[in-house]
Amino acid sequence: MDMRDVNTFLCILLEFLWTLLKSNYEVIKAMIRVIFPPEPKSVKGDVVLISGTAHGIGREMALRYARLGATVVCVDINAIGNQETLIMIKQEKGNAFKYECDVTNRSAVMQLAETVSKEVGDVTVLVNNAGIMPCKPLLDQTEKEIRLMNDLNVNAYLWMIQAFLPSMIRRNYGHIVSISSMAGIMGFKNLVPYCGSKHAVRGIMDALAVELRNDKRDLSGIKLTTVFPSMVNTGLCHKPRIRFEKLLKLVEPGDAADAIISAMRRDLNEVTIPQDLHYANRYVYRLLPIEAARLWTDFFDAGVDAHDD
Ligand SMILES: NC(=O)c1ccc[n+]([C@@H]2O[C@H](COP(=O)([O-])OP(=O)(O)OC[C@H]3O[C@@H](n4cnc5c(N)ncnc54)[C@H](O)[C@@H]3O)[C@@H](O)[C@H]2O)c1
Ligand SMILES: *[C@@H]1O[C@H](CO)[C@@H](O)[C@H](O)[C@H]1NC(C)=O
Repeated sequence: MDMRDVNTFLCILLEFLWTLLKSNYEVIKAMIRVIFPPEPKSVKGDVVLISGTAHGIGREMALRYARLGATVVCVDINAIGNQETLIMIKQEKGNAFKYECDVTNRSAVMQLAETVSKEVGDVTVLVNNAGIMPCKPLLDQTEKEIRLMNDLNVNAYLWMIQAFLPSMIRRNYGHIVSISSMAGIMGFKNLVPYCGSKHAVRGIMDALAVELRNDKRDLSGIKLTTVFPSMVNTGLCHKPRIRFEKLLKLVEPGDAADAIISAMRRDLNEVTIPQDLHYANRYVYRLLPIEAARLWTDFFDAGVDAHDD
């Protein structure tokens, strides 16, 4: 070994120790955040654009963001339901706009971004929420169903990010929330393509975080939150099956919306709904060998039964 090698070795060793120290610091910080959660940030003055606001969790989030003083931009393919949401917000004296848009259509999404920027202003919070869930054995799912589902659950999320991230980057300010699912963490029967799409959402958000972090510009003002709901009582899930209903309750859409907004306002990277599933998944399920984990999922027997729409 000559001097140069020794030097390189010492540099790497120092960097390793420095990383170890910083990583431990982050672990401690995370533990403290669990005990003393950070104060929620204000969304007053934010322009919050949500997809899928005509019904379900999307509508509930729109109502709540408006109550918090945000300007809400309601986007849905269903104009009638979206109008109802707008009226509900207006009745509470909230500030909202509505746009009819098929978010699977990339040019429609790009046009939407232009119109909203002119009529409302820069979107500072994007909530990717619209999704569908075809529910039957894989061999019974048609090409059309599967393509539409991926177009909405995956591609539309990407189009929306491409449309609304640039203004967030310009201001180094913004928040992107994407709704995945427990089906984005583990597999369920009758949901093979859907599980794929929700795993994709998780991957997209994780990769986006890495990309923003590695950008030469300072983009630390752009926050990301990925949401993993279990079963929510919106009708999306036609035939939910839960063995221990007291333990794993069917969540009401309003409660899901509360949990999502609370996580977003605390800049949490991810949130599971109900919250305790986070620990079940992260610290129990993932640590077991797959066969053992499967036995426990059999025991809890949660999932959805097949249905014809
Ligand atoms: N309900 C659940 O049990 C559950 C569980 C986990 C995750 N999720 C996820 O939460 C999100 C919201 O689910 P929900 O139960 O509130 O659904 P929902 O069916 O109640 O509402 C979905 C909304 O999306 C709209 N939409 C459909 N296609 C569209 C398109 N092409 N362009 C624009 N809007 C469109 C619909 O008109 C509807 O208003 C979805 O991504 C879903 O996968 C739901
Ligand atoms: C997609 O949106 C564009 C722009 O609004 C529209 O002209 C086009 O017809 C749409 N395409 C489809 C397939 O609906």
